[in-house]
Amino acid sequence: MSQRINILYNRKPCYDIVITKGFEELENELVTLDVTEKKLCIITDSKVGPIYSENLKQVLTSLASKVSVFTMPAGEAYKTLDTVKNIYEFLIHEKFGRKDMLIALGGGVVGDITGYVAATFLRGIDFIQIPTTLLSQNDSSIGGKTGVDFDGYKNMVGAFKMPRLVYMNLNTLNTLDDRQFFSGFAEVMKHGLIKDDKFYIWLIENMYEICERDLDILEEMIVKSCNIKKAVVEKDPTEQGDRALLNFGHTIGHAIEKYKNFQLTHGECISLGAVAAAYISWKRGMISMEDYYEIRDMYVPFYLPISIDGINPEEILTLTKSDKKAQSGTIKFILLKRIGKAVIDDTVTDEEILAAIKEIYFDEEENLSE
Ligand code: GLY
Repeated sequence: MSQRINILYNRKPCYDIVITKGFEELENELVTLDVTEKKLCIITDSKVGPIYSENLKQVLTSLASKVSVFTMPAGEAYKTLDTVKNIYEFLIHEKFGRKDMLIALGGGVVGDITGYVAATFLRGIDFIQIPTTLLSQNDSSIGGKTGVDFDGYKNMVGAFKMPRLVYMNLNTLNTLDDRQFFSGFAEVMKHGLIKDDKFYIWLIENMYEICERDLDILEEMIVKSCNIKKAVVEKDPTEQGDRALLNFGHTIGHAIEKYKNFQLTHGECISLGAVAAAYISWKRGMISMEDYYEIRDMYVPFYLPISIDGINPEEILTLTKSDKKAQSGTIKFILLKRIGKAVIDDTVTDEEILAAIKEIYFDEEENLSE
């Protein structure tokens, strides 16, 4: 049985998230969206495309007027305006018009870039999301944030553009390698930590099933997680306030991502950033020492890092302050008032940030000489 969650935008029904275990229901969903007269372009990447795009193309060909496939190289390094330009050129070549539709088939990078093309091509065309990673199913495909990296800054250029549908086939999680799978878990944990202590406890209780990718447990987890994200984005769709809570772990996390030149996955950087943010919360007396260590150690069974070597803490601090989120001069740091309740704080000092970076810094040389 599939599950359906409707997302409101400005208090009106906007799009459905369909959570299911195959592609069989996609046909009906597209019939509802009335694609008969439309050209469809599947935008995918070199990792996901070879597994699913041919099958998907076959399903769609009988429904739409034409189906094209654009395959971009996989990886964050290609989330750029150059790739956007390549997609524009392809769509022009394929004679796409304003009534046609894009389909993002892949993880967060593919979803963000497809959404951005959909927001800007011919001043906006429809798109749907078919997220295939844990990260994109639980987080990035929902809420209409789209965009690309620019000049080394994450998501510096973008737009809010709501999809017409988010269709999740949970079986796609089985083709992820362990590193990709667990990377997505960092954003699942985030939802529990910032908004829902019961969900956080549920994650602890179901740790083994999640690690073994028990599909029923993953379904329950994704439904719970999507409902948390739904509540946040419906209240504040364009991040004027509370949506910034979803950036928990991202302030220092993005700096590490950039410093390491995207060699670590997004989720690995976010878990490091989350430990650092939880550390500041403890040092400010907002959460207890026990809570801090429990949060930190919760990442370990999910193969996510809680310390990092080969960094210069001062340089990470500088990068933290030059992140997009700090462009206006103050860093909006997300701290934990308790497990399940995050707050926005713009008073975190350089000293506090540096101490937190040093907390997650594993100095190899110092440890060897001991
Ligand atoms: N992934 C953060 C947000 O959607 O706001």
